[in-house]
Amino acid sequence: MNTPNTVTVRVPAKVNLQLAVGPARDDGYHDLVNVFHAVSLFDEVTVTAAGPHATPDAPQLSAEAQTGPRAGVPLDGTNLASRAARLAAGACDRPCPGRIHLRKNIPVAGGMAGGSADAAAVLVACNTLWNAGLSEGELGSLAAELGSDVAFPLLGGTAVGTGRGEQLTPLDSPGRYHWVFALSETGLSTGAVFGEYDRLRPDAPAPRRDPELTRALAAADAAALGAALSNDLQRAALSLRPDLEGVLRAGRAAGASGALVSGSGPTCAFLAGDEGTARALAAELERSGACQHTVVAHGHVAGATVVG
Ligand code: C5P
Repeated sequence: MNTPNTVTVRVPAKVNLQLAVGPARDDGYHDLVNVFHAVSLFDEVTVTAAGPHATPDAPQLSAEAQTGPRAGVPLDGTNLASRAARLAAGACDRPCPGRIHLRKNIPVAGGMAGGSADAAAVLVACNTLWNAGLSEGELGSLAAELGSDVAFPLLGGTAVGTGRGEQLTPLDSPGRYHWVFALSETGLSTGAVFGEYDRLRPDAPAPRRDPELTRALAAADAAALGAALSNDLQRAALSLRPDLEGVLRAGRAAGASGALVSGSGPTCAFLAGDEGTARALAAELERSGACQHTVVAHGHVAGATVVG
């Protein structure tokens, strides 16, 4: 069978509808109840096979930012996409891909799992490139080795993650929701936000799923969903970035039915009643000067998909 030389995968960002965080574990991670929701803000990742005589140790990385701030994407072997390529090559016993090109729409270090999404896309692209036949379960195991948020973008939709966040169960969520994301010029380190959480909440209880959120999702009730959104990391993100408080306030004042910091931040997410309200809210956030860049998106959407 002919195998392609280049594969492009489209992969969505996520927002957390609930992020409940337990105390630090002995391994430094935290037990989570993490309700992931895939939104229509996509990176496109193109993976090119190594030439017939080349056996690169690592793929050559390039990146272009499509929207929003052009914060630095690491272009060396530390990029999770590069690590994903090397892990896939080892697992499939193939030479490492020659090149990876990232077309970024998902904010970098923005709390929307952009780096994790790119890594998930690389796993899917390699599987297709080599016709390797890795099952969903095998891709999920490789993803979990790479990071806590890498398995979800393989799946997409709406799902609850437990453990470190990588043990996923899809959730019943028939609704379509309209979101505005307020992007920030500078990112926040996930590890630093978890560290601040430990400082602020040394007595954190075990994380528990919120039944109101489950009910709102099953009933496709946008107003109830807006009221149920929660993020235990928000206080820690606001402690490191107090300016985000003003962004959240401006979004609520502009008519958002729910507002929260996305994941470890600094992106702020606003739920709107319909698409028109979302566009008006985005325009008002930019007009007020509360933030410079906004993106309108909807959820949920499918996970990583081969598009070329
Ligand atoms: O798993 P990942 O590499 O994406 O995690 C990045 C950082 O986020 C970890 O180094 C850790 O500081 C923090 N983290 C955590 N507990 C989790 C997931 C992430 O403390 N469940």
